[in-house]
Amino acid sequence: MEVKTSLLDNMIGVGDMVLLEPLTEDSFLENLKKRFDHNEIYTYIGSVVISLNPYRSLPIYTPDKVEEYRNRNFYELSPHIYALADEAYRSLRDQDKDQCILITGESGAGKTEASKLVMSYVAAVCGKGQEVNKVKEQLLQSNPVLEAFGNAKTVRNDNSSRFGKYMDIEFDFKGDPLGGVISNYLLEKSRVVKQPRGERNFHIFYQLLSGASDDTLKKLKLERDFSKYNYLSLDSATVSGLDDAANFRTVRNAMQIVGFMEDEMQSVLELVAAVLKLGNIEFKPESRCNGMDESRIKDKNDLKEMCELLGTEQSVLERAFSYRTVEAKMEKVSTTLNVAQAYYARDALAKNLYSRLFSWLVTRINGSIKAQAKTRHKVMGVLDIYGFEIFEEGDNSFEQFIINYCNEKLQQIFIELTLREEQEEYIREGIEWTNIEYFNNAVICDLIENNQNGILAMLDEECLRPGTVTDETFLDKLNTICADHQHFESRLSKNSKFLNDHSLPHNCFRIQHYAGKVLYRVEGFVDKNNDLLYRDLSQAMYKANHSLIKQLFPEGNPVKVNLKRPPTAGFQFKASVGTLMSNLQTKNPNYIRCIKPNDKKASHIFNESLVCHQARYLGLMENVRVRRAGYAFRQAYEPCLERYKMLCKNTWPHWKGPARQGVEVLMTNLQVPAEEYSYGRSKIFIRNPRTLFFLEEKRKQCLEDLATLIQKIYRGWKCRSHFLLLKKSQIVVASWYRRYAQQKKYQKIKHSTTVVQSYTRGWQARKLLRELKYQKKCEEAVTTIAAFWHGTQVRREYRKFFRANAGKKIYNFTIQRIMQKYFLGLKSKLPSMSPIDKTWPARPYSFLDGVHAELRRIFHLWRCKKYRSQFTEEKKAVYEEKLEASELFKDKKALYPSSVRQPFKGDYLEISKNPKYQKLSSAVDEKILLADVVNKINRANGKGSPRLFLLTKKNVVLADQKTGQLKANVPLTDLASVSTSTQTDGFFALKLKEGSASAIKGDFLLSSDHLIEMITKLHRISSMAADREKLNIDILDEFLVQFKQDKVCVKFIQGSPKNGNSVSCKRKNNRLLEVSVPASS
Ligand SMILES: Nc1ncnc2c1ncn2[C@@H]1O[C@H](COP(=O)(O)OP(=O)(O)O)[C@@H](O)[C@H]1O
Ligand SMILES: [Mg+2]
Repeated sequence: MEVKTSLLDNMIGVGDMVLLEPLTEDSFLENLKKRFDHNEIYTYIGSVVISLNPYRSLPIYTPDKVEEYRNRNFYELSPHIYALADEAYRSLRDQDKDQCILITGESGAGKTEASKLVMSYVAAVCGKGQEVNKVKEQLLQSNPVLEAFGNAKTVRNDNSSRFGKYMDIEFDFKGDPLGGVISNYLLEKSRVVKQPRGERNFHIFYQLLSGASDDTLKKLKLERDFSKYNYLSLDSATVSGLDDAANFRTVRNAMQIVGFMEDEMQSVLELVAAVLKLGNIEFKPESRCNGMDESRIKDKNDLKEMCELLGTEQSVLERAFSYRTVEAKMEKVSTTLNVAQAYYARDALAKNLYSRLFSWLVTRINGSIKAQAKTRHKVMGVLDIYGFEIFEEGDNSFEQFIINYCNEKLQQIFIELTLREEQEEYIREGIEWTNIEYFNNAVICDLIENNQNGILAMLDEECLRPGTVTDETFLDKLNTICADHQHFESRLSKNSKFLNDHSLPHNCFRIQHYAGKVLYRVEGFVDKNNDLLYRDLSQAMYKANHSLIKQLFPEGNPVKVNLKRPPTAGFQFKASVGTLMSNLQTKNPNYIRCIKPNDKKASHIFNESLVCHQARYLGLMENVRVRRAGYAFRQAYEPCLERYKMLCKNTWPHWKGPARQGVEVLMTNLQVPAEEYSYGRSKIFIRNPRTLFFLEEKRKQCLEDLATLIQKIYRGWKCRSHFLLLKKSQIVVASWYRRYAQQKKYQKIKHSTTVVQSYTRGWQARKLLRELKYQKKCEEAVTTIAAFWHGTQVRREYRKFFRANAGKKIYNFTIQRIMQKYFLGLKSKLPSMSPIDKTWPARPYSFLDGVHAELRRIFHLWRCKKYRSQFTEEKKAVYEEKLEASELFKDKKALYPSSVRQPFKGDYLEISKNPKYQKLSSAVDEKILLADVVNKINRANGKGSPRLFLLTKKNVVLADQKTGQLKANVPLTDLASVSTSTQTDGFFALKLKEGSASAIKGDFLLSSDHLIEMITKLHRISSMAADREKLNIDILDEFLVQFKQDKVCVKFIQGSPKNGNSVSCKRKNNRLLEVSVPASS
């Protein structure tokens, strides 16, 4: 919410002098002092701002302050120059009213500073943008340039503006600056040639000499030393706190920004240098034959250099300083100049040169800063003009007269505008117009400017009058013509009123200005008004080969010789003041009245008499009076009601109806006398400040009560809100806690639920899974069965087509092939049919191992069978015998191997066929199984006798070989055993059973070549008979033989080789028969 404040808040003294009660000069000063002591340098008189120079920087011009005052109402904040600037700028921008800001005050009172503050404020609050900023910069930078050329150090101000300045700043409809126009008034050009004590020339001279580079100085033919120049007072050439060199750079920079070309700057500096040179030209008298003194230039060096700078011819200028040509009625008269006149001419030239240069600068700057667009502009004019100047002891001259005239005019316009405004406001507000008593200074203006008998008119008249004209003649004229004027005072006027007034010297006149009486000394009035420059000089200047100089002296052009006198200074000034006034009249004025608190340029010093003096001549009291003439105070209804509504129950705290009614209720309620105020359309007008203060006082009291009330309510509110906060916090805490607890509980339940749920779900899931699995299995089983079944069926149906069988078939086929090959191979490689052939082809495949072995066995058996099958019964019997022989003797008797090859013939003798043995054969009725010849060993000597040995099924028959006579027939049943040796001999013994019939003759010891056959057959036959015991065959190398009664041992020994290969048997003793058998080889 925007805080509504008022000027009346926290006021030190009164912020607006209009409210001063009682209004006296003392109270006025006291109020100013009080405020000044509290650093309140600004005070209002209505909308006029009084500004006291603080002579130190105050922290009240910061960007924050700018923001504070921006867009606020004038009376809302404490008085400030920004409030005025803001008001002016806003009514310019928003209400389309052209504005002018009139800044007046004594030299050093802060006018220039004030104008800069206004400009900087406007620059800060107006629009921004590249173009706008450039314009702003140019406008602001025009200041340093003009200050360098137009300001000087004076006793009162180190940076005193020695010219009046009015600047129109032009804005577009948005309030953005477009450009500006500067007008200058009355440069104090006398300063160029002479400066009062304690003062110095214009800044630019010093700045140039201190700040320019050596090179520049050389070009300008200058030396750095100030003392080299007559026009520069050495008195206060350097000013503390002023850095001329730095300022020179600032000025050059500013000139560049404003748009000066390099050569223009150079020309300007050349002119400045020329002025300095001019000052150094000195004259000496030279007596002429006519007895008159004629001036001559002392040292021509300076003149020469100056002429070089300006491009003039030296002789021309030299002549111009010695002669003066007066033209009258086509006739040229040349008179010589004396030394004084030459000096006068020189100084006149210097002054003119400088002041024309200054005017040119202003024009040049205007060329740069003037607005480009041709559309209608809104204008804000800033007038920084010297205020009333009153020097004590009648030191006031033509300049002061002019200046004071200007101020008189400003006062006039102020009165006019203020009153007009006041009047307009009354009409606007519907207030009855009451005549305002005030002093109108129109009469003084008339005294000065009246075309017939005004002082200026008379001065001009004097100047133009032929004949001798002096300041005294001028005063005389005044004395005759103005004597009756009530504001004109002179000792010699017809009216003897001042005859004895010693404060009024004879060569002076006094004018009662609205701001006070001023005593003017007439000396110099005529000269200054004439402002004469000899034509020879201006023509010399015009001839100069220098672009700028030529422009400055157009009257020097010989083609345009103008015999008319140039307009006088007074006339010119009057004209320009006239334009200024008519210019200002179209605008809404805003006043800043600057006051200097002391003469010492010191802060904190408030010199009452000095301020009083200024307040008087600035007409401040007049201001207040005019302002208070009708109603002292006025305020719109809304803010008024807002401010005072607490004073009445009906309007407090809120007034529902229109503000005006509220104010009416308020005023009636407060019983303010009706003549003290009037109701306008939108404002209430209060006649007397007292009433306002009464309201303010009431308000103050009420505010205290309200403060208590507010305090009470605030405390209550604070406690309550604290309580509510606590409560709220408690609820928050509780809710958080509850939430937390519930959350915990919930989480627990949730967890448990999840567990239970998970178990149940698990159980259910598992159950389901089981079922599903079972179902799936069943389905799978069914599917499998069906598949198998189908498979089987299909296979069955399609087996023949399936490759699967191919394997088996191939396998079988391969196996068949292999077997076939195997068998065929075997067939071709079969071994011989001999059963004893052990060979057998190798098997081709290991898997045939079993078969191969089996086949071998079968083949062998088959071969054996085949072999056997070719045998007859007889042959078979033979082999059976052979077999038996083997069983009996193999490995037992060394003779056996040799017998294997011998076939068992049996009948070696063919008994039946031999007639010799017929008898014998008939004696043996049975079939003879064996018939051979054996040796019957004699028991006595061991010698052998041949015998036939026959064997039948039942008997062994021994017969004589020669006769065939039967010798013994032994039934086989009587045979007990047969003994034979282990060796190769053919000895054997037939042992008979003891007690048998045959045994009587004893056992038989025989030797046969076919021993093996014989014994085998014997054994065979005996074994075939079922009723008989088996015949024992003993094979020993020592056995006993029963010879009749004796038993003889037959012993077989290895015969020695000397005995030969034959077996020999020898009887050793009765009991031993030794058979020596050759060792088998
Ligand atoms: N508002 C201000 N704040 C601080 N100093 C100021 C102010 N106004 C003026 N001054 C001081 O006073 C001096 C003179 O002011 P200036 O404006 O040049 O006077 P004027 O133009 O009236 O002759 C300035 O140089 C400055 O030092
Ligand atoms: Mg100034």
